[in-house]
Amino acid sequence: MMRTHYCGQLNETLADQEVTLCGWVHRRRDHGGVIFLDIRDREGLAQVVFDPDREETFALADRVRSEYVVKVRGKVRPRPAGAVNPNMASGAIEVLGYELDVLNQAETPPFPLDEYSDVGEETRLRYRFIDLRRPEMAAKLKLRSRITSSIRRYLDDNGFLDVETPILTRATPEGARDYLVPSRTHPGSFFALPQSPQLFKQLLMVSGFDRYYQIAKCFRDEDLRADRQPEFTQIDIETSFLDEQDIMGLTEGMIRGLFKEVLDVDLGNFPHMTFEEAMRRYGSDKPDLRNPLELVDVADQLTEVDFKVFSGPASDPKGRVAALRVPGGASLARKQIDDYTKYVGIYGAKGLAYIKINERAKGVEGLQSPIVKFIPEDNLNIILDRVGAVDGDIVFFGADKAKVVSEALGALRIKLGHDLNLLTCEWAPLWVVDFPMFEENDDGSLSALHHPFTAPKCTPQELQANPGTALSRAYDMVLNGTELGGGSIRIHRKEMQQTVFDILGISAEEQQEKFGFLLDALKYGAPPHGGLAFGLDRLVMLMTGAQSIREVIAFPKTQSAACVMTQAPGAVDAKALRELNIRLREQPKVE
Ligand code: AMO
Ligand code: AMP
Repeated sequence: MMRTHYCGQLNETLADQEVTLCGWVHRRRDHGGVIFLDIRDREGLAQVVFDPDREETFALADRVRSEYVVKVRGKVRPRPAGAVNPNMASGAIEVLGYELDVLNQAETPPFPLDEYSDVGEETRLRYRFIDLRRPEMAAKLKLRSRITSSIRRYLDDNGFLDVETPILTRATPEGARDYLVPSRTHPGSFFALPQSPQLFKQLLMVSGFDRYYQIAKCFRDEDLRADRQPEFTQIDIETSFLDEQDIMGLTEGMIRGLFKEVLDVDLGNFPHMTFEEAMRRYGSDKPDLRNPLELVDVADQLTEVDFKVFSGPASDPKGRVAALRVPGGASLARKQIDDYTKYVGIYGAKGLAYIKINERAKGVEGLQSPIVKFIPEDNLNIILDRVGAVDGDIVFFGADKAKVVSEALGALRIKLGHDLNLLTCEWAPLWVVDFPMFEENDDGSLSALHHPFTAPKCTPQELQANPGTALSRAYDMVLNGTELGGGSIRIHRKEMQQTVFDILGISAEEQQEKFGFLLDALKYGAPPHGGLAFGLDRLVMLMTGAQSIREVIAFPKTQSAACVMTQAPGAVDAKALRELNIRLREQPKVE
């Protein structure tokens, strides 16, 4: 071993001891006759002082440059009073350098590591191996490692077995597009990379493994956002003979223990909220409960008003008219309201009506609004009472199809919460339960809201009769407005599984072709089972305060699902394509 200590581990207790450090030159400073090198390794920084007494070493220290890899032998000593650096773990000491070896030189890095520099993300990703040297990036990956090790320990302690499942497999429907891999040995056929280990973990339950987990790579070809990557990691869990309360309890205990252990945060017991309540009060199935703003339904007061924009959706069973009261919002300027109107437009809202409550005691005179003229005073008062409007507030209104209103006001609620600094606490976890089984597509057909293997809360006959209103045994864990994980009790009887496939419009032949192995497994003694999967990247993002999951993945993909460092995906030569029986429709343009 070359080193005796990591730089970040040095402290006063090592005073007068000799140490050997290995790392990178973070910064070199020349201070009237002495040279300071800040040496960096994954645990932090240490300041090494070279004085001219040792002539050769001093001369070498003078020649090293940023990011040279060095080995330093020296003696730890307390820093002189006044030179202590409280921002540095080893800031109370320094090392008097005796010997210096340059293990490797480095060219000037594409961006400096010893100061903040606003290089674009593209450059950081192109040189990710350098970017990851930055202490804040290293800290995130170290925390990620602590998180997975805490989780493994919890699951191991609770009798879970870690089992691997295939990466080259068949489509696993989780609602995204598949990544396909051509087969050389079966010309014209393709593997799909798993969107999740869903069906394999269910089959492991049929095999009797009872409690399974895997920290599993999943692949989804979908449009990327800050909290989505084409390749991401799940903490994937499945159990037999447990009901949803057991599973939620077990996994809630895991997350609570993790936060306590790693962040010393007490999350307390997670409240449970139905999907219906979450949509009604927050316009979202992943409500951020740190935010006190709530949507309030007011359609019943507006069915008769002489304003089509409101009366239409108010009378339409698929419509919604909701209000959002913002305390203190009467001081918003016209320009700000215009900006919020544009913002809700992103979600399909055609406008954003509002009432400013300047002085309620003055009746309509005390209100400022483009719409009060359309609303009879009695109805207006009922609405203002219902939302709890007081002087100084603004009340926003959304009227449209229910989906549009919920999404638009739900997003506005989040935006206002951040803009106006309204958040009431740091962490707000909850479970969302009682999801519908299906959602309706624009063409009237149905899709599974979770996935097609989720058990309904009713019999196959009842499901067949009323698929649109059936609830499922699914549950999501939500933290600060992010869906951390989701799962369900699964279907473990063949008849029920076929009923769900039928409702989804999957023909009997297609069921056999795509899911024959699952239907077979359900015939041979499948136990009642269920589980869930957490998004590890999202969990680490929230726990590190990162703005994007790209910040907590060592080598992430860009927005266009590419790796700028390795230049993947890349072209392959004609011979490889021929072996795979693939002919491109046209030669791609060479860039
Ligand atoms: P689901 O599709 O809800 O469920 O995924 C589970 C969790 O995985 C995370 N996640 C993602 N993270 C980053 N990038 C993505 N593209 C991405 N997609 C999903 C989310 C999500 O909550 N097999 C089921 C689980 C089950 O039923 O047990 C499944 O995959 O945090
Ligand atoms: P208009 O009569 O179109 O000028 O609209 C009057 C007010 O209603 C304006 O403040 C619009 O922003 C608002 N508005 C228009 N359409 C909607 C809608 N679908 N939901 C909520 N407010 C709307």
